[in-house]
Amino acid sequence: MNIILLGPPGAGKGTQAKRLEERYGLVQLATGDMLRAERASGSDLGKKVQAIMDAGRLVSDDIMIDLIASRIGKAGKGFILDGFPRTVPQAEALDAMLAQKGLKLDRVIEISVDEAALIDRLAGRFTCVKCGASYHDINNRPKHEGVCDVCGSKEFLRRADDKPEAVKTRFEAYRAQTAPILPYYRDKGILTQVDGMADIDHVTRQISGVMDKIRG
Ligand code: AP5
Repeated sequence: MNIILLGPPGAGKGTQAKRLEERYGLVQLATGDMLRAERASGSDLGKKVQAIMDAGRLVSDDIMIDLIASRIGKAGKGFILDGFPRTVPQAEALDAMLAQKGLKLDRVIEISVDEAALIDRLAGRFTCVKCGASYHDINNRPKHEGVCDVCGSKEFLRRADDKPEAVKTRFEAYRAQTAPILPYYRDKGILTQVDGMADIDHVTRQISGVMDKIRG
C-alpha cells in the first residue's frame, strides 16, 4: 500500500506516519527528516538547504525529487510519504517515478486543520533527536518523562523553523505552492480528507479506517 499524508505545517503528518508505519508494515518517507539528517551529517546538501529551511521556505524541486527518487520503491510493503510532494512539479515527478517502477498511489490523505490552532501546536512541539518522533508540551508528552516512546532516546530538540516568523512563511508556502496539489489528486479520484482537529488517537482511527479499506 502506498499513501501520501498531506496537510499544512503542524497538521500531524509526522505524528500519524510514525503510528501507522509499524501497524501496516510500511516505511515512512519524510522529506523534512531526510533534510534534517543531511544537515546533522554536515553534508554539502545539508549546508545548502540550512538557511532555506530555517527561514521556512521550500527547497528546490530538483533537490527534493532526487532525494525521494533514491528511496521510493525500496520499501517492502509500501510507503507513507510525509512532506512530499509539496508542489505540482513534485507530484508529477512522483507519478513518473511510480509508473517507471510499476507502482501506484493508493490514497492521498489530507489532514484538514484550522491554521490558527497550528501556531500553538508548533510552538509547543519538541522532537526526538534520534528517530524524529514528534511530541508536544501539552497535547502529546512522552509516556515516560524525558524518554522517547518510539526509540528510547533521551535527547530532544526544538526546530528553528517553529519560530513565529518562519511559521508564517511556511503557511504562506503551503497555501501558494502545496495546496494547489489537492485538486491534482482530487481529479484523479484518490483524495480523502480527514478531520485533523480531532485528538491524535481519533485522527489515527480515521486514517486507519481509510487504510483498512484499501487493504481489504
Ligand atoms: P517538514 O519537516 O516536512 O515540515 P512541515 O510539513 O512543515 O510539517 P511539520 O513536520 O512541521 O508538521 P507535521 O504535520 O508533521 O506535524 P507533527 O506531527 O510534527 O519540512 C520542513 C522543511 O523542509 C520545509 O519547510 C522545507 O524547507 C523543507 N522541505 C521538506 N520537504 C520538502 C519538499 N517536498 N519540497 C520542498 N521543501 C521541503 O505535529 C505538530 C505538533 O502538533 C506536535 O507537537 C504534535 O505532538 C502535535 N499534534 C499532532 N497532531 C495533533 C492533534 N491531532 N491534536 C493536537 N496536537 C497534535
